[in-house]
Amino acid sequence: MNIRSTILIIVVIIVSRITLIGGEGMWIPMLLQQLNEKEMQEMGMKITAEDIYSINQSSMKDAILLFGRGCTSEIISKDGLLLTNHHCGYSRIQKHSTVDHDYLTNGFWAMNKSEELPNPGLTATLLIEMKEVTDSVLVGVDDDMTMKVRQDILASNIKKITSNFEKESKYKASIKPFFKGNEYYMMITEVFKDIRLVGAPPSNIGKFGGDTDNWMWPRHTGDFSLFRIYVDKDGNPAEYSEDNVPYHPKYYFTISLDGVEEDDFTFVFGYPARTNEYLPSYAVEQITEVRNPDKIKLRQTRLEIFSKYSNRDPEVRIKYATKHARVANYWKKMIGESGGIQRMKGIEKKIDFEADFLTWANESGNSQYAAILPEFNKLYSELEPLQVAADYLSEAGMAIEVVKYANTYRKLVGTSKDDPVNQDKIDDEIKRLKNGKKSFFKDYYQPIDEEVMTAMLKLYDMNMPDGMYKPQFIETIHGKFKGDYQAYTDYVFSKSMFDKDEKLTEFVNKYKAKKYKKIQKDPVFEMASQLGTIYYQNIRKQISAINNSIDSLMRIYMKAQMEMNSNERYYSDANFTLRVSYGNVNGYSPKDAVYYKHTTTLEGIMEKEDPDIYDYVVTDRLSELYNNKDYGAYADKDGTLHVGFAASNHTTGGNSGSPVLNADGHLIGVNFDRCWEGTMSDLMYDPEVCRNISIDIRYFLFIVDKYAGAGYLLEEMNLVKSE
Ligand code: ARG
Ligand code: GLU
Repeated sequence: MNIRSTILIIVVIIVSRITLIGGEGMWIPMLLQQLNEKEMQEMGMKITAEDIYSINQSSMKDAILLFGRGCTSEIISKDGLLLTNHHCGYSRIQKHSTVDHDYLTNGFWAMNKSEELPNPGLTATLLIEMKEVTDSVLVGVDDDMTMKVRQDILASNIKKITSNFEKESKYKASIKPFFKGNEYYMMITEVFKDIRLVGAPPSNIGKFGGDTDNWMWPRHTGDFSLFRIYVDKDGNPAEYSEDNVPYHPKYYFTISLDGVEEDDFTFVFGYPARTNEYLPSYAVEQITEVRNPDKIKLRQTRLEIFSKYSNRDPEVRIKYATKHARVANYWKKMIGESGGIQRMKGIEKKIDFEADFLTWANESGNSQYAAILPEFNKLYSELEPLQVAADYLSEAGMAIEVVKYANTYRKLVGTSKDDPVNQDKIDDEIKRLKNGKKSFFKDYYQPIDEEVMTAMLKLYDMNMPDGMYKPQFIETIHGKFKGDYQAYTDYVFSKSMFDKDEKLTEFVNKYKAKKYKKIQKDPVFEMASQLGTIYYQNIRKQISAINNSIDSLMRIYMKAQMEMNSNERYYSDANFTLRVSYGNVNGYSPKDAVYYKHTTTLEGIMEKEDPDIYDYVVTDRLSELYNNKDYGAYADKDGTLHVGFAASNHTTGGNSGSPVLNADGHLIGVNFDRCWEGTMSDLMYDPEVCRNISIDIRYFLFIVDKYAGAGYLLEEMNLVKSE
């Protein structure tokens, strides 16, 4: 063998190992045995794929539930205790909170089952089984049909398969595309409807660090809340009833008191919502270099205005706390994502891959494959101006609270105009609007909105090209108001009723169909409807047509990528179905000369403590436990109390609340975030810096037992410690 061929062999080996990089991938549980078990065991796992997902016997999947519509939760006791994040239970905790019982601020602990609080509308969904159904879904479909025809056939096949199943079963069925529509799986689920709140730490534990620390490691947030599943006497899901009993699950997690060491094997089992790992370079560039920067700038402007007023007035701070958190969360995520792609030269990597792809496609003589990338280029160029305009409409136009709010009156105007004798319909609308009005004004502060409006109008005007994306009122600003955005804003607020609670209440209370003209003439409503018209006439349909073409091209591109590297394992992008990610407990280096360790401790909370900064207030009770080093069985071997840890599991939004498990499959943590430097993992995973962030399960137990005095809850759990 000559040197040349030796080098070639080495190169081939290196290339084909690329997908084995620890951490990347969100794997389908029913395929673990086939694709991942061996590697997981080589990495240290002591259990089998069958222990994780089985349809023949109880397995871990019987203890993982989709919590509400956006988070993951896991069962940790024989009586159905359900653990998730504080930020996942937040709105429920808030709903139970009043000035007298401020559970959000002070925490809540049921001291027995009768004190647990029901949460109407909250569900927890358990996966019973998943099945591949690709062939049945694709019956009657061929590659030559238009997207529209294809979609209609798919929809009708899916409906047929799921309704046939549901006719024969007490369970629900839904079908989702995997690998961009090259495969389909049916999810059979059971939905629990009586989910009661058992405990939540005070916000300065559950949200410690707030938005300042959000998306960041080192982290010290005790981001958990505790619920319980109730069922009827026969053990079936049922709406809330006093007669319901705690659920006895087929499986619940054993909790390990051992803690973690650097490099330990770990896996996460949960519901990641959405990733896009297989996009062409054009798409990644558009997201990270065009769309994110625009949205970041718009959100930043808004956040600065929120902060300016919140810092002056604590009442305003409370009103805007949730809004601030919501706007800030993805603002920060997008900064991390764009920065991460830049640092790892993600676009260049995609371009290099695409060059190889093109060579391969040409060599294999497949003209359809060879045409994919130029076609993507064309489609994404067409999409860009539309997408940017859509972003400005939602992130600038609808960022003006009163404009977004006025939109909710469109239906009333429509009905009053087209169907004025239908008093029932109008009454229904009025009732809906009255409820909406209460929650709008509860958290509304006009001076903030006025400043936001001026700023957003200016940014919109400066950054949108003249022509079809400019509403008429922008012309008015340049004409009648001589380009003075502030003067226009003053005028709008002086004339409108949508920012004036009393005036609007009076109007709504005395509403008659013929008064719809007064709404139509309101300058805020006019703004809302002009922006709406632009969206519906010039953007929505156009975007959706291009996206349809992109989707069908993406299906082919996905298939082609898998063919090109046919001996590599591929994972399907996240789609809110149950997945397993695995990796190692690991610190990382965020920048030159800096290394972040893999764990944080209570020491760090005390270092961050600052009674004057809301995000860093530490309660006396926690300080006292710290001063007395009263950590009980929850202390680490090193004598400190561990709070969080970082690991290389590939996670995303929706994985919040997911169980983090050790080599024995025992619960060691609860996932709640990712580190900032690694948030581009939704587009491209970098094993050097992509880390998921979890609370150490011992910190959770410490808070329940030592801090809250609710240690009785531990009696129904199974805690283990190895010698
Ligand atoms: N970044 C986490 C997630 O995406 C936590 C968000 C809630 N916390 C907050 N400080 N806003 O959902
Ligand atoms: N906090 C996120 C959630 O609510 C998880 C963080 C992430 O995106 O990884 O799902």
